[in-house]
Amino acid sequence: MQAPVNVAICGLGTVGGGSLRLLRGNADEIARRAGCPIQVVRVATRRPRAIKIDSAISLGSDPFEAVQDDNVQVIVEAMGGFDPAFAVVSQALAGGKQVVTANKALIAERGNELFAIAEENGTTLAYESSVAGGIPIIKNLREGLAANRIEWLAGIINGTGNFILTEMAVGGRTFEDVLAEAQDLGYAEADPSFDVDGIDAAHKLTIMASIAFGIPLQFASTYTEGISTLAPEDLAYAEELGYRIKHLGIARRTDKGVEMRVHPTLISKRWLLSEVSGVDNAVVVKGHAAGSTMYQGPGAGADATASAVVADIIDIARQLRAGGRQPLVPSLHYHGAALDLPVVPIDSIASEYYLRIPVLDRMGVMARITRVLEQHAISIEAVIQKEVHGGSVPIVLLTHAVAESSMNAAIAELAKLADVVGPIGRVRVAPFPAGE
Ligand code: HSE
Repeated sequence: MQAPVNVAICGLGTVGGGSLRLLRGNADEIARRAGCPIQVVRVATRRPRAIKIDSAISLGSDPFEAVQDDNVQVIVEAMGGFDPAFAVVSQALAGGKQVVTANKALIAERGNELFAIAEENGTTLAYESSVAGGIPIIKNLREGLAANRIEWLAGIINGTGNFILTEMAVGGRTFEDVLAEAQDLGYAEADPSFDVDGIDAAHKLTIMASIAFGIPLQFASTYTEGISTLAPEDLAYAEELGYRIKHLGIARRTDKGVEMRVHPTLISKRWLLSEVSGVDNAVVVKGHAAGSTMYQGPGAGADATASAVVADIIDIARQLRAGGRQPLVPSLHYHGAALDLPVVPIDSIASEYYLRIPVLDRMGVMARITRVLEQHAISIEAVIQKEVHGGSVPIVLLTHAVAESSMNAAIAELAKLADVVGPIGRVRVAPFPAGE
C-alpha cells in the first residue's frame, strides 16, 4: 500500500463530524478504493465536541494552522458560510493544497474566484457534497453526461423543504413542528430561513446550471422564491387537480437564453419526481442524447453528505497517487472561458399557473374573474369551486401558459375586485410534460 494521504478537517458539525466518522468507520475499504490510507491528521473546531478524537490527531481551533501545515495535503472545509471559509479555502489553494468543500454558498457566490485560484495554482477544489447530499449529481452532470447538450434540469434540492412539505401534506403536521425536527436531525441550515426561503436551493441550482450549460456561476441572477407563501390547502387542491407541489429548482436553455429559477411548483402526479418525499432530493436531467435521467437519494444529513465529501477525498488521493495535483476533469465541466449566455428574467418566462382566489360567494363573481383573465389573454384549463367558509369561497384555477408579467398584472387587477377577500395564491406549473 502506498503512503497515506493526510487530511485536515476544518469544522466538526454535521458535515465535518460525519466525514470523520465515515473515514474512521470504513477506513479499510476506503484505503482499498483510494489505493492508499486516508489519514485525518488535524481537526480544527470551535465547538464543544460530541465526537471522540483520537490522540494521533492534532486538535485546534484555528483552521489557518491546517492551511500552514506542510504535512497536510487535503483540507476539508466543513465550516460553512463565508468568513473564514473563503480565506481558508483561497489560502489553501494558493498554497497548492487540495480542497474539498461542502459549502454551496461559497461555491455559488465566490466559486468563480476560487476556481480561478485553484487553476492558477494547479490544484483541486472539489465540491460534490455541496449539491443534493449523498447523490453524486456533480459527477453525473460533469462526467457521465459530458457528451450531452443539456436541455434542462429540474430538482428537488432542499431536503429540509421537501421534508416540511411532505410532513404537512401527508402527516398534517404544522410547519414549525416539522422544521424543529429537521433541525434536530441536522438537515436544516444554521439559519433555517436559507432552506425555507429557497436560498439554499438557489445556491445548488446555480452550481448545477453552471456545469450543465458551461456558464459562469451567477447566483445573483437565479430567481428565488421560498415555500412560506404556500397555504396547506394549496397542497390538497393541487392533489385534486392531479398534481403535487414541490419546491423545485429549474434550469433550462431556451432560444432566449438560460432560465434559472427556484419556486414552489405543481408537478403532475404521473411524473416520478412528484413521488420524492421526506428529506430525499432528486434531480432529473434532460440531455439531447441520453434523454431524461433521474437521480434520487438523501439530500441532507451527516452520513449522506459525508459520503460525497469522502468520495471527493478518494478522487484526490487517486489523482495524487497518479502523480497529478490538478484534476483531469475541469471543475465546472469546460476547458477555457465560460459561455456568455443571457439569463432570462422571470417576468419573461411563460408558465401555466395554479391560482387560488378567495372570493365572496355571490352572483356573477366567476364572470368578473374570467373577464379580468381574458383581458390579459389568460385562458383557463381547469376550475374547481370549493365549499363556502364563513362567507368566502376559494376559486381554484389552472391556466394555460402565459408570461409572468401578464399573470402579475392580472393578479394585481383581480386583487382590486370587491369580490376578492384575501391574498391570491399563485403557483407555477412545471414546464415539462410528465413523460419527458
Ligand atoms: N439544509 C440543506 C437541506 C442541507 O436541507 O437540503 C443539505 O445541503
